[in-house]
Amino acid sequence: MERTFVMVKPDGVRRGLVGPILTRFEQKGFKLQDLKLMMIDRELAEQHYGEHRERPFFGELVSFLTSGKVCAMVWEGPNAIAGARLLIGQTNPANAAPGTIRGDFALEVSENIIHGSDSAESAGREIALFFGDAEEPDIPRFN
Ligand code: CMP
Repeated sequence: MERTFVMVKPDGVRRGLVGPILTRFEQKGFKLQDLKLMMIDRELAEQHYGEHRERPFFGELVSFLTSGKVCAMVWEGPNAIAGARLLIGQTNPANAAPGTIRGDFALEVSENIIHGSDSAESAGREIALFFGDAEEPDIPRFN
């Protein structure tokens, strides 16, 4: 069983897309393990996107991420990391296939609705960053 970190970005929350996105992950069969609606401060945004620090769009990315609430989630299932990225679609919505979240709901790379961890190492780091280091989530598990 694998876990991944998924975050609906401020554009997705503003547009009321949390529900449809949760539905897609649940319909696929992934199990929701933790979820919170939250504001991200600049420090957390910079830590989360640290690997993009030298990219020209870094400032824009951090401003965007801190512009409104995000919905942070942990999903679990077989191949959850790669599976979530298939549901999410290509980073640039212009190249994302119809049927994927970005393919169906977004037009531009700067506002691409959702983030999903790209590797096991990123998933571990991002889950710890947003939900703490605990092995188990702070909600009881019934499934
Ligand atoms: P995400 O999958 O969250 O990972 C890195 C993010 O950087 C990406 O989604 C986009 O939101 C953002 N990004 C990538 N390329 C660009 C770009 N050219 N301009 C603005 N934002 C970008």
